[in-house]
Amino acid sequence: MTTIADDLPQQRGIPAPIVRDDFEISIRAYADRDCDDLVARWHETNRVTYRYVAEHQRHTLADARAFFRGKILPSCAVWVAERSEDLVGLIAIDPPWIRQLAVFPEHQRRGVGTALLRRARECSPAEVRLYTFQRNDKARAFYEKHGFHVVALGVSPAPELEPDVEYRWVA
Ligand SMILES: CC(C)(COP(=O)(O)OP(=O)(O)OC[C@H]1O[C@@H](n2cnc3c(N)ncnc32)[C@H](O)[C@@H]1OP(=O)(O)O)[C@@H](O)C(=O)NCCC(=O)NCCS
Repeated sequence: MTTIADDLPQQRGIPAPIVRDDFEISIRAYADRDCDDLVARWHETNRVTYRYVAEHQRHTLADARAFFRGKILPSCAVWVAERSEDLVGLIAIDPPWIRQLAVFPEHQRRGVGTALLRRARECSPAEVRLYTFQRNDKARAFYEKHGFHVVALGVSPAPELEPDVEYRWVA
């Protein structure tokens, strides 16, 4: 399957390893071979992160796969973070919007989110925007640490209907 990422120049380069506290990862463009494992890990991360959102608890793995293939891949550049060939996170970017960002739970707080965010800034150098849930304290701390500012408070579209917050970073 072709994604927008296939056209990005970064994909043609050799990914440079990123190291923090001996935790070495690399960021590369999504490839179709990633799909099953990546979507399973992303779905599970969303389930444990959004315990307070009924819609996320209802989503099956098949729903997640259909959403990823039908909505994310056609509209976003998708990048994965890898450690020793294990997938540890992903970011989906539809410049200037981050549509998805997830670091799988056992790999959080090791700089992976920061590395994925750096890729978003490379894809969208002037500004980066996103929505997250108001109750997602960890993500809010992460974005605010990285210089994002609150643009507006609102509610996510049905059927989620969860209070959300729009963030923006400008260069
Ligand atoms: C939010 C998320 C992407 C952060 O990724 P991460 O790899 O854990 O973050 P990093 O290690 O790069 O953290 C960078 C800085 O952000 C802040 N931060 C990150 N996680 C935090 C947390 N749980 N609590 C408070 N601050 C946090 C810290 O300042 C951290 O620096 P430090 O570790 O030196 O103190 C990750 O926790 C995640 O995927 N969560 C589940 C899914 C999710 O909420 N996605 C965002 C949807 S919009």
